[in-house]
Amino acid sequence: MKPAGVVLAAGLGKRMNASLPKVLHAIQGSSMLQHVLNTLQEIKPQKIVVIVGKNAADIISSIKNPESVSFVYQKIAKGTGDALSKALPLLRGLRATVIVVNGDTPLVNSHTLRKFLALHGRKGNDLSLLSFSAGNPGSYGRIIRNDGGEVLSVIEDRDATTEQKSITEVNSGVYAIEPEVLHLLKEIKLNERKGEYYLTDIVHIAKSKGLKVHAFMIGSEEEFLGVNTPVELDRARKLMKKRVISKWRGKGVHFIDENTVFISPEVKIGKGTTIYPNVHLEGCTRLGKECTIFPNVRINNSILEDRAVIKDSTVIENSVIKKGGAVGPFAHIRPGSEIGTGAKIGNFVEVKKSVIGTGTKASHLSYIGDAKIGRDVNIGAGTITCNYDGRVKHTTTIGDGVFIGSDSQLIAPVRVGKGAYVGAGSTITRDVPPKSLALSRTGQKNIMDWAKKFEIKKPKPKSKQRKTDK
Ligand code: UD1
Ligand code: CA
Repeated sequence: MKPAGVVLAAGLGKRMNASLPKVLHAIQGSSMLQHVLNTLQEIKPQKIVVIVGKNAADIISSIKNPESVSFVYQKIAKGTGDALSKALPLLRGLRATVIVVNGDTPLVNSHTLRKFLALHGRKGNDLSLLSFSAGNPGSYGRIIRNDGGEVLSVIEDRDATTEQKSITEVNSGVYAIEPEVLHLLKEIKLNERKGEYYLTDIVHIAKSKGLKVHAFMIGSEEEFLGVNTPVELDRARKLMKKRVISKWRGKGVHFIDENTVFISPEVKIGKGTTIYPNVHLEGCTRLGKECTIFPNVRINNSILEDRAVIKDSTVIENSVIKKGGAVGPFAHIRPGSEIGTGAKIGNFVEVKKSVIGTGTKASHLSYIGDAKIGRDVNIGAGTITCNYDGRVKHTTTIGDGVFIGSDSQLIAPVRVGKGAYVGAGSTITRDVPPKSLALSRTGQKNIMDWAKKFEIKKPKPKSKQRKTDK
């Protein structure tokens, strides 16, 4: 039977000292809560319930796939025990093991959760805890075991004796609970000191009823880092970054200086690709094999096919660069663009919502917007597709093999037929038939001996007088 997942995300997060809800703080481009949800989704639960509190609307609207998640409101943050009890109406009748995860443990991975559920099932437990050994047990709840190693309870750091504080096995905040055990949540008493109902109290309650309780020490301190403070957030960011980089390094991606690179966890990169310093790969970007991404490049939600080369200081958004395409330096590929196989977009070229055909070149200083450009076209320096008439956008269509001379303006809507030439400096307002030459500049006039006459009339420059010391 598939499990049901519950994420506790309604805490006030006071220790973050920020107005943003704690679980919405971002790590590598996604909120902590989104990371937890992505991980939970990998174990394919039959349902996911997220407990939200203050700022619920912000939290719900931030989720990338809200349709796969149910939200429950915990009006007042009365503790983790109270939070889980809010999910009960949605879990009723599911007959599924409930896996509970704190929303502030963004580094948790699905492999560990699967292993944990398998151990819980194999042991036939009523309640299981996922624990880990902490170098610095800090604010984590300590796992209290008897001499025989049986788990008796979890004691929060603030309630622990000095002796208990020295215990290094701590609670990760991940629990597997059988549905018949959930009713015990009602028996949790208010912790007077904190004014909260601790979910951890379910451990000794279950134990006192003779139920089967185990803690499986299968977590690592890094994976279960609970983010309560800005310092812990910073640590989580560094760990996530290290994890993402080492994953891609292991798959044959070369990093020149990994410390300055940002890669969102959803990104995919092909073998043999080289990434230079200060590169940001965001959203669902996909890079093919043997691509080269030079310094200071930002690529957002885009696809680069094999052997694409992105030169320095280039931005690419929601676009596709086909095999062997080259972009930059200093280029901006705006949403909805497709740069064809082997095509070249050079320095200071902006492309917006345009298709650039195979082998086409726009090497310098151009604006290409709302254009459909065929293959093997040469776009001269300073070409502009004038796509906007002040009210609406219009399309420029350029056929295969066209040559657009430098400093030309194409006033859209306009078509340049296959194999046509546009003379440099032209303003094209009407369609150009295939194989023709379009010229729209004023003819050149040469005035013979003009310069000689000009030189004679020009006043002679005064000879500079040297200043003398007097
Ligand atoms: C909790 C555990 C602790 C464990 C640690 C692991 C309890 C009492 N303690 O402590 O044993 O070692 O996690 O990281 O559970 N939340 C709600 N509603 C509330 C309060 C909290 O939804 O009323 C959510 C928070 O948003 C957070 C999670 O529950 O995502 C954990 O709460 P937090 O206050 O961070 O608990 P810890 O003190 O870290
Ligand atoms: Ca916490």
